[in-house]
Amino acid sequence: MSALLRLDSISKIYRFGQIKALKNITLVINKGEMTALQGPSGSGKSTLLNICGLLDGFDEGHYHFDSTDISRLTKQALTLLMREYLGFVFQSFNLIPVMTVFENVEYPLLLAGVEKRRERTLALLEQVGIGEFVNHLPDQLSGGQQQRVAIARALIKKPPLIIADEPTANLNAIKLRINARNRGIRSPRFILGEPMPKINLGLLNTLT
Ligand SMILES: Nc1ncnc2c1ncn2[C@@H]1O[C@H](COP(=O)(O)OP(=O)(O)O)[C@@H](O)[C@H]1O
Ligand SMILES: [Mg+2]
Repeated sequence: MSALLRLDSISKIYRFGQIKALKNITLVINKGEMTALQGPSGSGKSTLLNICGLLDGFDEGHYHFDSTDISRLTKQALTLLMREYLGFVFQSFNLIPVMTVFENVEYPLLLAGVEKRRERTLALLEQVGIGEFVNHLPDQLSGGQQQRVAIARALIKKPPLIIADEPTANLNAIKLRINARNRGIRSPRFILGEPMPKINLGLLNTLT
């Protein structure tokens, strides 16, 4: 199997508080693989996921994405990489408050210049169980419903890498079921209720 993502001896220090959040982290995620990351609060899970998702930098080490050393990429190439290859489900959703549910999920397709967006967006919203709320604004939804929108937004472009930081923290019923099945490791497949063969990799961060 070839590596989609490879981290070698990654370290990260937060200047504020001089906290060494990550120390010599080595991680390989192969294409088609699903990985869950577990650890207590403050152990560095979000920090690591943010680095994997190119949302934050690191102080030491190397990060190869699909064999490319990301430190060699221009800012423009990094933006393109994020836009085309990564879907990120944030712990705090980060939905755009002035956009409807439909618009939030359609937006990545719009940015990528995809023309036929409507059917695809509506079908996915239906699949994650919020088909009835397409015209709502995020603050008119419950936490769990907002999380479903955030998951749909990450999946809409079928990116090769989906990074999800505590993606099911607000989906209680589902969480319990998955916990029972998987002893604490949750997967977006369960949220969607059926396998998504084209989305073959998820880097998951489970609840602490
Ligand atoms: N922006 C930040 N500035 C300073 N310290 C931070 C910042 N973000 C996280 N930390 C610190 O880094 C450590 C790891 O945090 P985090 O990655 O959020 O852990 P987790 O997601 O596992 O709960 C914690 O000690 C936290 O206080
Ligand atoms: Mg976290």
